[in-house]
Amino acid sequence: MDLWYKDAIIYELHIKAFFDKNNDGIGDFKGLTEKLDYLKDLGINTIWLLPFFVSPLKDDGYDIADYYTINPDYGTMRDFKAFIRACKKRNIKVLIELVVNHVSDQHYWFQDAIKNGKKSKYWDYFIWSDNQEKFKDTRIIFSDTEKSNWTWQPEVKMFYWHRFFSCQPDLNHNNPKVVKKINKIIKYWGDLGVDGFRLDAIPYLCVKEGTNNENLEQTHKVIKNWRSYLDSEFQDKVFLAEANQWPEDVAKYFGDGDECHMAYNFPLMPRLFIAIKKENRKPIVEIMENLPDIPENCQWALFLRNHDELTLEMVTDEERDYMYKEYAKNPKMRINAGIRRRLAPLVDNSRRIIELLNSILFSFPGTPIIYYGDEIGMGDNIFLGDRNGVRTPMQWSIDRNAGFSQVAPQQLYLPPIMDPVYGYQSINVESKLIQPSSLLNSMKRIIEIRKNYKVFGRGDIKFLSPKNNKILAYVRTYENQKVLCIVNLAKTSEFFDLDLSEFYSCNLREIFGNSIFPISNWKNCMFTMQPHSFFWFEVLSEDEKL
Ligand code: NOJ
Repeated sequence: MDLWYKDAIIYELHIKAFFDKNNDGIGDFKGLTEKLDYLKDLGINTIWLLPFFVSPLKDDGYDIADYYTINPDYGTMRDFKAFIRACKKRNIKVLIELVVNHVSDQHYWFQDAIKNGKKSKYWDYFIWSDNQEKFKDTRIIFSDTEKSNWTWQPEVKMFYWHRFFSCQPDLNHNNPKVVKKINKIIKYWGDLGVDGFRLDAIPYLCVKEGTNNENLEQTHKVIKNWRSYLDSEFQDKVFLAEANQWPEDVAKYFGDGDECHMAYNFPLMPRLFIAIKKENRKPIVEIMENLPDIPENCQWALFLRNHDELTLEMVTDEERDYMYKEYAKNPKMRINAGIRRRLAPLVDNSRRIIELLNSILFSFPGTPIIYYGDEIGMGDNIFLGDRNGVRTPMQWSIDRNAGFSQVAPQQLYLPPIMDPVYGYQSINVESKLIQPSSLLNSMKRIIEIRKNYKVFGRGDIKFLSPKNNKILAYVRTYENQKVLCIVNLAKTSEFFDLDLSEFYSCNLREIFGNSIFPISNWKNCMFTMQPHSFFWFEVLSEDEKL
């Protein structure tokens, strides 16, 4: 298997939010295809597409009504194929969503089940009950909107099981027929040329009385089954696990290298934000040292923000309170157990912190994911419902509707950001591209550098322990490549020493500026750093010196 996903730089986007080619107020595949050169120029090599299937859009497409048809608002199958061809031409891989924990209540499996009741051949595709007594120990995920994981279905006079919105009945993966049906979906989109699937909400696939219905053994069997099907049909296609769980549970989704190729590092993400506010490396180092080793062919997927709320499900109560206090002072910023804000506003638009966090994203073990718009520092709108505040149109230019669409503004699927700080008049691709010192240009640079060093995607990590705990320092090693990364988490300038005895007689070359840093005392190597800054040093042996 080609381990391409270890060297990938992923860009996450929703078709509807990217570029509207046919000017109906909703982004489309033709628009995205037109903007591929922008993405290529940014340096990314993989696109993760949020759901684009036929759907009543009660959960922004995570409520799928037909797995085989593209939502006509986003284009046609022909447009999709042209998009895939255009990606292949540019060596860009494409990941799509496999949302199979649940379907929309409009899906014909569910419609048939409620129409024909127990006689329906799809009845056992769902989980039914006469009462709400079963599975009492299961938490409610969308706690702001749902009171129960059971909803009454008046036609069949029974309750059905769902872990998300009540309009998203869970599929019954205890039923082998359902598991098999999913293979068909994998085959269909795999044949169309996608390179992988993000497995949405997989911890909840199977159910078992007396458990909390998360991470069950049976669930792992189901995923292994899909994986062996994927490998039997295709080469080099991957699964990315969305399992928002504690470290030891997330890591189980790699199996023995026979489940998912990648899994999001959910445990790390909120702790990056905590560490910055506390000006202390401990939350980061602790969680990283707690992550189990993962199989050789597997990879973490790293992210700072995504299309959902910044989830605080897998932190302690104390950490959650801290995050709310520091990052979501206005209650409107909160949703479920999380914070619905974009990266730039979360860190008060501090260019230094944005770059610092990205330096960690691009140098920690794993594959980095950029959420569309974060590369230019887009803002959010906490007054839009659900998680829509972080799903507004991509800001291309100062033109009408941020250059996203020519339609009358009131026809847009969502209004663009228009406030004086983050509005499209100041934050847009066009102006950031022509300004050499812009965030966008520094993102391009970090991506380019990251791609030159295989160590970041493939190497191991060792943390150093300077006495100054505002400093996060780590060494990445892969074959004969070694990079020393140092981050000043503090808002003040800091000095500290590092024990670099292990690099005795080597040279440190600062990667961004290409200059050699002289070292006279290897045991107590003294550094000073500006507030919220970082260094990446390539460790060169004596004879590699420039
Ligand atoms: C996780 C997705 O990221 C989120 O947007 C969605 O609401 C739930 N899964 C349910 O599908």
